[in-house]
Amino acid sequence: MRLILLGPPGAGKGTQAVSISEKYKIPHISTGDIFRYNIKMQTELGKKAKGYMDQGLLVPDEVVVEIVEDRLKNQDCKAGFLLDGFPRTVNQAKALEAVLSKMNTGLDKVVNIEVDKDILVQRAVGRRICKNCGATYHVEFNPPEKSGICDKCSGELYQRDDDNEKTVGKRIEVYVEETKPLIDFYREKNKLVTIDGKNDINIVFDEIIEALEGNSL
Ligand code: AP5
Ligand code: MG
Ligand code: ZN
Repeated sequence: MRLILLGPPGAGKGTQAVSISEKYKIPHISTGDIFRYNIKMQTELGKKAKGYMDQGLLVPDEVVVEIVEDRLKNQDCKAGFLLDGFPRTVNQAKALEAVLSKMNTGLDKVVNIEVDKDILVQRAVGRRICKNCGATYHVEFNPPEKSGICDKCSGELYQRDDDNEKTVGKRIEVYVEETKPLIDFYREKNKLVTIDGKNDINIVFDEIIEALEGNSL
């Protein structure tokens, strides 16, 4: 399965990606996670990306495309992959098409998760992530058993630097301007399935699987 997860900041892409990649045994490739890892490791790439991310802006296309192209050449992508947060501009989508066609392959589906703006801000601002294993929680909608501690590994939970109200607002604006056009782009290619992301995490997951496997609800 070769999939893209599309949706605004806080829509639930990362949350659903974990379950989808487990189910289909395909790698979960999040460009946001790749940048955050590089920031933590203080690499050149991390230094380049940080300024854009802190302002809620997109990292330039050429930087992102090169990273994804390299990643897709890995052996573990032979049987499929799940892209989370890439592509994010029409330019990136076209570059991805070129990369996949060079590899003699193409996309199966693009899953578009839709959520209203007011819920997005609430979700992003309340998000907490495990420093150790990366598991994602929400202080209200998906709280850990013990506040501030990961259920899975007892790691400490932290808040992303870009998860404050101001930056989330900017990220949503950037999404509307630069990323939303991809909905039409993939609809025209008959790849798009749209899922209502307002529901509970488990319901959203079930609906994604139904949509991918072609059964009507
Ligand atoms: P990235 O890390 O991709 O962030 P994003 O797109 O803004 O999306 P988020 O990770 O905030 O949201 P999500 O949809 O994954 O939601 P989650 O599942 O965590 O990108 C960050 C930055 O990197 C960008 O701003 C940009 O600078 C740069 N970047 C990355 N890719 C790039 C690219 N291709 N080009 C250029 N720049 C790029 O859920 C959010 C919260 O809600 C969690 O707390 C979760 O527990 C909760 N939640 C999830 N689902 C539900 C539900 N159904 N009900 C209730 N709560 C829920
Ligand atoms: Mg995410
Ligand atoms: Zn953990």
